[in-house]
Amino acid sequence: MTAQTIGVVGAGLMGHGIAYLLAAAGHTVRIYDPSAEWRDSLPQRLEVARELLGGDQALLGRISAHDRMVTAMEDVAFVFEAAPEKLPLKQQIFAELESTTAPSTILASNSSAIPSTDIGARLKHRDRVVGTHFWNPPHLVPLVEVIQNDATSDETVRKTIDLLREAGREPVHVKKDIPGFVGNRLQHALKREAIALVAAGVCDAETLDTVVKSGFGARMAVLGPLEQSDLVGLDLTLDIQNVLIADLDNSTEPTQFLKDKVASGKLGMRTGEGFRRWTKESADAVRERLRNYLAEQARARKKK
Ligand SMILES: NC(=O)c1ccc[n+]([C@@H]2O[C@H](COP(=O)([O-])OP(=O)(O)OC[C@H]3O[C@@H](n4cnc5c(N)ncnc54)[C@H](O)[C@@H]3O)[C@@H](O)[C@H]2O)c1
Repeated sequence: MTAQTIGVVGAGLMGHGIAYLLAAAGHTVRIYDPSAEWRDSLPQRLEVARELLGGDQALLGRISAHDRMVTAMEDVAFVFEAAPEKLPLKQQIFAELESTTAPSTILASNSSAIPSTDIGARLKHRDRVVGTHFWNPPHLVPLVEVIQNDATSDETVRKTIDLLREAGREPVHVKKDIPGFVGNRLQHALKREAIALVAAGVCDAETLDTVVKSGFGARMAVLGPLEQSDLVGLDLTLDIQNVLIADLDNSTEPTQFLKDKVASGKLGMRTGEGFRRWTKESADAVRERLRNYLAEQARARKKK
């Protein structure tokens, strides 16, 4: 794919990683962020990503930070929006993007939960609006869910998938703009059961995490749940579901156990306790283990 000029809106956690991976693929990236603080810290955060992944120094020269949307987004082929998760703000950004970009520019939102249908609802050319749900950190986790809403054209989806694939990501086509897309629905279906088990005293939170990490989680990076069902046989899967399904948690709202934790300020690592207890050292150790593991996987993928 030829190098293109691409806009990123928001230089935060997700925006800087998206900019990094696009620049690493050879594109020129212009980031717009109204906050001087975020713009000023951008070079240092990009350098951390470069060191972690062993990228060449020149790629950082392809990324520039801007304080005006109109200069940043001039003549860009794509825009990836990674601004705060608030619908009115995203709608306002997309309205501005409509007046600063050509009608052919693809406008992608990295929203975790807001449907791109709503974000682009007021635009004239809605066929070029698409959801692109990256996972944190976007330069280390390969999956991007490309979500087609009812107005998104097939061409927009194809061009977005091509761009991301060429940039070394693993884009997947999500054909309906539903809450949580695919990944977060699966993740929260698992969390609903996990929280219910701990709340019912079946096991403690540490045991629960061990069951996932050392059990089915250990093989999940190479064997998805449906592949695994095909591997063991759908007859066995059905036999197990006949016994199990009726017993699984099917609450239609978050459990009281989770609400009580939040109400009492037990928010997790940042307050020292959530489902489990944390010291600064133990929390830092988890973060470092995760970062090193993801970086190792990313470097191995690059070598292939
Ligand atoms: N953090 C995650 O794990 C994660 C994962 C997937 C998707 N997302 C989604 O990505 C988006 C960004 O999340 P984040 O974690 O990077 O947030 P963040 O707070 O780290 O970054 C947001 C950035 O947007 C900037 N900003 C504020 N107002 C703006 C405006 N009017 N125009 C342009 N930029 C503006 C801020 O200055 C900041 O740099 C959200 O929609 C979020 O839901 C986050």
